[in-house]
Amino acid sequence: MAAVLDTVRALLAPKSYIIADETPADVVAREALLDRAMGAGRRKKSSEKLRRGRVPAEGLALVARDGQGHVIGTVRLWNVEAGVGRDGVAVDALLLGPLAVDPAHEGKGIGAALMRAAIAEATGRGHGAILLVGDAPYYERFGFFAEKTQHLVMPGPFARERFLALELKAGWLEGAAGMLTASGRKLSRSSALRRAA
Ligand SMILES: CC(C)(COP(=O)(O)OP(=O)(O)OC[C@H]1O[C@@H](n2cnc3c(N)ncnc32)[C@H](O)[C@@H]1OP(=O)(O)O)[C@@H](O)C(=O)NCCC(=O)NCCS
Repeated sequence: MAAVLDTVRALLAPKSYIIADETPADVVAREALLDRAMGAGRRKKSSEKLRRGRVPAEGLALVARDGQGHVIGTVRLWNVEAGVGRDGVAVDALLLGPLAVDPAHEGKGIGAALMRAAIAEATGRGHGAILLVGDAPYYERFGFFAEKTQHLVMPGPFARERFLALELKAGWLEGAAGMLTASGRKLSRSSALRRAA
């Protein structure tokens, strides 16, 4: 039902935003948006351990911009290994998050547009699965369910019913077990210093 409402809303509402690749000039606005939307505790999440010191997966840092070009939404995905498969080989996957929309623009379908763009881009780039920790009632409409992560754990506290996954290739997470580990490219020292400044 929620997916139907998303589609109807997208068809009826005049589109006052675009989805685009994030650029280096968006970083300050994106961080301010995340502080507004998610609060100070956002950096204490277990997902943050898998993001800290890494760059997002290639082509998978997206923003929503309003008519003036301001950042009003953000989503990024990160390369991880989702434990190992039955053959003992690490299972490559993506971790999605944070997803956030400026509180002043909520309920216009921007979160859904960011999710659909991210899923399409990840699929086009040949990824096998996307995992995330979030509210199942929101993410189920995009095909994310907890059953796919039942033998996986985050590297820190997490609520099992919020640990969700979407397979982009059927059976990709079949038998995957163990802890998620970061596998993305590391931030260069100069970028890390710029981010800390
Ligand atoms: C969650 C968030 C990204 C949704 O963005 P958005 O652009 O408002 O979402 P959309 O317009 O695409 O969808 C709105 C629908 O999602 C529902 N929704 C929003 N947040 C939800 C949540 N946490 N759980 C369940 N449903 C939720 C709304 O009630 C609305 O439902 P409807 O379709 O039945 O009317 C945004 O509210 C946000 O940034 N929240 C703060 C950051 C956050 O919590 N991010 C992680 C989400 S777990």
